[in-house]
Amino acid sequence: MTKQLSLAGKPVDPPVVLAPMAGITNLPFRKLCREQGAGIYVCEMITAAALVERNPKTMRLIEFDAEEETRSLQLYGVDPDGMRRAVAMVAEEDLADHIDLNFGCPVPKVTRRGGGSALPWKRELFRQIVTAAVDTAAQAGIPVTVKMRKGIDDEHLTYVDAGRIAEDAGVAWVALHGRTAAERYSGTADWEAVASLKAALEIPVLGNGDIWEADDALRLVEESGCDGVVVGRGCLGRPWLFGDLEAAFRGRSAAGGQGREGGFERRLPTLGEVAQVMSRHAALLVDWIASAETYETRRNIPAEEHGCKEFRKHVAWYLKGFPVGGELRRSLAMVSSLAELDDLLGKLDADAPFPESALGKPRGRTNSPGKVTLPEGWLDDRDDCTVPEGAELDTSGG
Ligand SMILES: Cc1cc2nc3c(=O)[nH]c(=O)nc-3n(C[C@H](O)[C@H](O)[C@H](O)COP(=O)(O)O)c2cc1C
Repeated sequence: MTKQLSLAGKPVDPPVVLAPMAGITNLPFRKLCREQGAGIYVCEMITAAALVERNPKTMRLIEFDAEEETRSLQLYGVDPDGMRRAVAMVAEEDLADHIDLNFGCPVPKVTRRGGGSALPWKRELFRQIVTAAVDTAAQAGIPVTVKMRKGIDDEHLTYVDAGRIAEDAGVAWVALHGRTAAERYSGTADWEAVASLKAALEIPVLGNGDIWEADDALRLVEESGCDGVVVGRGCLGRPWLFGDLEAAFRGRSAAGGQGREGGFERRLPTLGEVAQVMSRHAALLVDWIASAETYETRRNIPAEEHGCKEFRKHVAWYLKGFPVGGELRRSLAMVSSLAELDDLLGKLDADAPFPESALGKPRGRTNSPGKVTLPEGWLDDRDDCTVPEGAELDTSGG
């Protein structure tokens, strides 16, 4: 039975979470998404060590907009003591209202050292880290959640064990990306695994992976019985997806549980409307960078140029499938000022309709599977609690 999702007693309605994405889900991007629909919008991954050391880049990444009702912070850590210190800092300094723990990162530099998606294999260490976070956060009434993958590879699945451990530790929910670390972003997400986890746990389970359109979210809930969804790459270049998701979930309830056939309004902006969102996204990035207090976090280049450079990676996602000439596309992807951006956006065919061909299609990372490199002897003893050496990253973000 699907449960009403809530955090610290407050309903999460619709049950939609913006997936933490390093290099993407900064304050401006979250604001853009939040303006479209309700839900929880998680910041970029923050490493426990960098937070405790008050690394300037990290302190910048944990800034929230005054209008962010649920300040949602994702922490990465491999050491129970380090995690306790980081969570205590969040609690004492009132830095966030929700802490999500990252146990899903498949990046080789992380798994090679036993972090991210490699860590739940060490179930006792995993228990200690999650318990340290939950117990410390509880003193300030901050709910903790866990985000994870299915496991290291098909021979080393961890998600059901990890889900049970996290449930025992007292997390508010677990979110499962239906892929192993070895799969990275290849193939399709295994929603049956989400159903298995839902069947195994009492606490809410959120499904994640390959929600490209709002009806995918409803289908994931229907097929797996999960209590909510976490949406990542589907919103790249499409922050209005959160409006569709809200309409879809509300449409479903209004239609008395008729599911996706109940119908909901899907936003299909014209190229002119997309251009307006692009312009606003870039301006928000520039404003945010300009507000940085120290030169160090500004990368020593003018805020406008820095913001426009940050925006460049979003250009191809926004324009995907629209009829835009190669030269204009290239110029947009090299933009250095807001005036230049607006000038180039003015050259687009504002009336071009949203390309149906881009609907339901993967966007962002879609790399191939690969062997997961682990620390030597990592698989030998699941109950060994030794903190993996060098895995406590000291930089946050991507
Ligand atoms: C660019 C990028 C950065 C990501 N960074 C993080 C991260 O910092 N923390 C995390 O838990 N997952 C991260 N992920 C994984 C996503 O949160 C999500 O689990 C994954 O993309 C699958 O969901 P999707 O199919 O909706 O994209 C990242 C994914 C992408 C594409």
